[in-house]
Amino acid sequence: MDMMTRIAALTADCLTATWPEAQGLPTCDEIRSLLAVPPDPNMGDYAFPVFRLAKALRMAPPKIAQTLCEAWNHADVARVEAVNGYMNFFLNRVNFAKDTLATVLEQGEKYGSSDMGNGKTVCLDYSSINIAKRFGVGHLSTTMLGHSLKRIHDFLGYKTVGINHLGDWGTQFGKMIYAYKTWGTKEEVEEKGITEMMRLYVKFHEEAEKDPSLEDEGRAWFKKIEDGDEEARAIWNWFKDITLKDAARVYDLLGVEFDSYAGESFYMDKMDVVIDELREKGLLTISEGASVVDLEEDKMPPCIILRRDGATLYHTRDLAAAVYRKNVYDFDKCLYVVAYQQDLHFRQLFRVLEKMGKPWAKDCVHVSFGMISFEGQAFSTRKGRVVYLEDVLNQAMQKALDIINEKSPNLPNKEEVARQVGIGAVIYSDLSNGRIKDIDFSFDRALNFDGETGPYVQYTHARCCSVLRKAADVALPEVDYAALSDDEAQALLRLLGRFPDVIKEAAEKYEPSMITRAVTDIAQAYNKFYYEHRILDEDLNAAAARVALTRAAKDVIKTGLWLIGIEAPERM
Ligand code: ARG
Repeated sequence: MDMMTRIAALTADCLTATWPEAQGLPTCDEIRSLLAVPPDPNMGDYAFPVFRLAKALRMAPPKIAQTLCEAWNHADVARVEAVNGYMNFFLNRVNFAKDTLATVLEQGEKYGSSDMGNGKTVCLDYSSINIAKRFGVGHLSTTMLGHSLKRIHDFLGYKTVGINHLGDWGTQFGKMIYAYKTWGTKEEVEEKGITEMMRLYVKFHEEAEKDPSLEDEGRAWFKKIEDGDEEARAIWNWFKDITLKDAARVYDLLGVEFDSYAGESFYMDKMDVVIDELREKGLLTISEGASVVDLEEDKMPPCIILRRDGATLYHTRDLAAAVYRKNVYDFDKCLYVVAYQQDLHFRQLFRVLEKMGKPWAKDCVHVSFGMISFEGQAFSTRKGRVVYLEDVLNQAMQKALDIINEKSPNLPNKEEVARQVGIGAVIYSDLSNGRIKDIDFSFDRALNFDGETGPYVQYTHARCCSVLRKAADVALPEVDYAALSDDEAQALLRLLGRFPDVIKEAAEKYEPSMITRAVTDIAQAYNKFYYEHRILDEDLNAAAARVALTRAAKDVIKTGLWLIGIEAPERM
């Protein structure tokens, strides 16, 4: 039995001994799930919040904590203090070390995983790039947040479905086809790919300013795509192929995958049912020729379902997509990882689902996030200052290689490590702040091996691996846990002990940055421990203990990095 379970059992015993008559007291398992490792060591090694007991005992929480602490008597705990509504347990340091290490080392890289999500499905809509546009840095956050949230949920036992809801439908594709047929050539599109598609799109708008009738031409071509016209479909599919091949290179570099690429066009034959349902339920009204769901009582602009010319919209496809996902995956949650600019879009979408009487509307969550700027400059497609993600990743890998060439020229596999470090640096920057904050990306900051960065955490992991390689040559005897009673080892152990709770909280708040924070804290605590103590000490029992702690730190750092989508090289 691990120490937390043991404390939970002892607490349950203490409860029944103190109030033998009371009904509705939490079980040992419930107490176990309420126990937490407080962030501040002055608040004990574990804390039990007694608030849940107030109702059953008809007593104020501080009084309950006080009574329980007075009744407590067990040697595993050096001291137990009542603070407000908490019982704070101070463990015997040696026991704490022994227990924490046993738990981490037994589970290895699976430490922190859980079966809490078993039998539940989470759909995640992320990355969701647009066809005929280059993969810009603006789509980095949705890609990495979504990817990380998927891994976090997988780790907690959920079944996850990663969906790239491609922006591959809309009149712009009709315009592009018109432009291609009028001013483009096959050769040029083949040679220049998306750059040429974007040039044609810009050209269309320039020409349409002079001759507004082009808008009708564009609409007519889109209608042809909709009606399944062979030529229109072929060109549209071709544009889509080229865009996805380009994106595949970026996804490869980032290590990101999807279970489904069902984009907006996938719903073209699935919207009618939803529109009929809206109509039958009396939710559609006509406003200036368009069919809309009025949301005035919710203080929102109307949700447009059909334009005056009968064309469907982004909202229409999202409604069909939500219904489809519920039918096909029967999700317990559907997460939309999309920038905060689309806050209103999703509030409207979820409200319309509610009005349609879908009880699962409450399970749809918009996981929004802030903007990313680049070396102090905002991105903007309109001003033509798009920074391509692939360029940023390539540059980061090159810079990482330069640093490695300078610092460790003899490292085997330099290019491979440079890839892991360069990409890791970019991902770490992206996932290091609360998601709603705007981020400014800078190469110098991201690749600083001494700052709070991806490379710093990766370097600490490699350092642990190097210690373990050296230790492998020494025959280590039994572990002396007393060697881990010092402040540095204890601080590290506390962080390792909290890690499973951090993962759960990150999932609850859709906040991978909490894991980024945790691995950074662990790396810093390990380095402090490493500088203050000789790991491979002459006292071999102490060495065995420090090596065991090193292995635990290594496993947890590796898992944490994996959860945020960063690789952990063994040598740097
Ligand atoms: N393609 C959209 C964009 O780049 C994001 C789509 C998000 N997902 C959704 N179901 N609406 O802005």
